[in-house]
Parts: sequence; C-alpha cells; structure tokens
Amino acid sequence: MLTEPTLGQHCRQGKVDPPNPFCQGVCDPFSRAKDINMQHHIQSVALDRAGRLINHGPTVLVSARHDGVENVMSVAWCCGLDFDPPKLTVVLDKIAQTRILIERSGQFVVQVPTIDQVVLTNTLGTTSLHDDPGKLAHSGAPLFEIPGHDMPFVGGCAAWLACRVIPEPHVQNEYDLFVAEVTAAWADDRVFRNGRWHFETADPRFRTIHHVAGGHFYAIGEARNASDP
Ligand SMILES: Cc1cc2nc3c(=O)[nH]c(=O)nc-3n(C[C@H](O)[C@H](O)[C@H](O)COP(=O)(O)O)c2cc1C
Repeated sequence: MLTEPTLGQHCRQGKVDPPNPFCQGVCDPFSRAKDINMQHHIQSVALDRAGRLINHGPTVLVSARHDGVENVMSVAWCCGLDFDPPKLTVVLDKIAQTRILIERSGQFVVQVPTIDQVVLTNTLGTTSLHDDPGKLAHSGAPLFEIPGHDMPFVGGCAAWLACRVIPEPHVQNEYDLFVAEVTAAWADDRVFRNGRWHFETADPRFRTIHHVAGGHFYAIGEARNASDP
C-alpha cells in the first residue's frame, strides 16, 4: 500500500531526522516517488533489447543492498557481454564498499544516469561509504523500490538493469571484473521506447553521460546512421 508524501518535509541533507521515506522536497530533485508504481514513465524493457541500454557506453551507477545496508557507486567500466540471456560486466575495485554488498547479496542494479545527474554521479564516485556512513543521504541520491527486486534503484535515471552475479571468483579477485546476467530492465519512455533510444527527439536533459577522467564528462552527441551517405 503506497502512502502519499507528507508535504513540506525533506529527507535529504539532514533536514528531517529520521528521514521521511516519502520526501518530496526540493532536496529530492529527480523524483518524488519512492515506488515504481508512482513513476509513470518507467516502462519495462524486453530482455532481448536490454543490451541496448548500455551499448552506447555510458558511465553508470551501480547500486546494491545487503543486510539492511545499501550503497551506490559510479562505474565507467561497464560493458555489454552477451544478448541472450543478456549479460554485462562491471569493474569493481576492491576499495569500493558497494562491491562488498554485491559479493554478499549476489546482485546489483546498473542504472544509466543523465546529464542532469552529472554532479550526483561524480559525488557517488568520489565519496565512499567507508569514510561517510551517511554517503547516500549526503549525496541526495533519490532511491526507490521495484517490487520483487530487493535492491535500491536511483530515481531520475534513463534506464535500470537488475543484474545477478555469475560467480567467477578468479576473475573477480584477479581483475576486479564481475560478470552478471541481466534479469530485468526498465527505461524512461521519454528517451527509450519501442526497444531503442530516442536521444534525437528527447529533452536534452535525458542525454546520458560519458566520463573521460578527473570529473570531465561528455553528454551523448548527435545521431548518425552508418547507412546514410
Ligand atoms: C565517473 C567515475 C567513474 C568511476 N568508474 C569506476 C569503475 O569503473 N570501477 C570502479 O571500481 N570504480 C570506479 N569509480 C570510483 C568509485 O565510484 C569510487 O571508488 C566510489 O567512491 C566507491 O564508493 P563506495 O566505496 O561507497 O562503494 C569511478 C568514479 C567516478 C567519479
């Protein structure tokens, strides 16, 4: 049963303690809804199209939860691996606290942030739960739930991929590389629908971001067809 947000209460940046789970204040700029049922633009994506959500090489946010602890980190090294069933890889350094949650829970979410979230993405990649137990609250990351998936999802992104780790202990330990199967996917239908991206016609704030180095990002550029002269 969903509860309407309580007006005038902000859960981020320590404005309300304990946090209001239905915050709709200015401190939650991306999303007012804490449940996918209230996020009307998020549509399910067929698994045979899920690979397209990351095929253009965006910097992503990786989130996980274990034993009541949840966290989000930025990841530039996310790569598609297979179509059917869809698989991907992410590189998760041993210093990342999110990696520990993923190793213990065996699952994570890859979400594709937009240019509107470039500061959030940089913050989640330059702060650690190890140093700041309030990392998520301080970052302002607007989390929501998708029933049946016990993981935190970051609101305001363009796409979300629920992933289950395919254990490869040697590869994980030696190369920090995690292989995962995509078990479900969703996208904001204002920028991804009918199995493809629509960056050309979507609001520019939905452009995905691509990290180069040192907090320097590009937003995705114009479309070109290889078949056009
Ligand atoms: C844009 C950006 C991209 C990043 N890409 C990766 C990556 O691909 N793999 C990785 O292990 N860390 C990457 N990082 C660093 C982690 O996000 C960083 O270590 C983060 O603080 C981990 O948070 P946690 O310890 O709370 O999990 C990236 C950071 C930024 C800012």
